[in-house]
Amino acid sequence: MATDARIGSPAGDERTLTLLRERAFAAMERAYAPYSNFRVGAALLASDGSVTEGCNVENAAYPAGICAERSAVASAVARGNRSFEAVLIATEADDPTPPCGMCRQFIEEFSPHLLVVSVTRDGREARWTLDELLPKAFTPHSLDRR
Ligand code: THU
Repeated sequence: MATDARIGSPAGDERTLTLLRERAFAAMERAYAPYSNFRVGAALLASDGSVTEGCNVENAAYPAGICAERSAVASAVARGNRSFEAVLIATEADDPTPPCGMCRQFIEEFSPHLLVVSVTRDGREARWTLDELLPKAFTPHSLDRR
């Protein structure tokens, strides 16, 4: 869900991460995941300080479903954002989970150096950069024909 909440702190700042954590867990509550029962919420911090939420939305035709991270990016792009600083992923798993390969590729298009933070309900956390998660990526430059 897109909202107008804005925060002035840089990505990685603890106050910013606390806000992103709240927003991601709130989005997770709205996930539509009746097939996997694996609810995911994402809070995406854009370079202008705005935060856009996403959740996974599954479908009876399973491959038609979308992950929380991609739904957040699509909503944010629809709002006019094309540059992002951080994404915070919230799940109900015991261990923090990294984004799937398709989401890594989807984010790479806009923000190859994004900070990716994944959290659990009991406060466990993992952090990566997208460069680490998707080395040697296929990027818009890969399409250059010269
Ligand atoms: N899922 C996400 O939303 N984000 C991820 O990073 C991994 C997987 C969703 C897809 C599907 O609805 C459910 O979690 C189980 O794979």
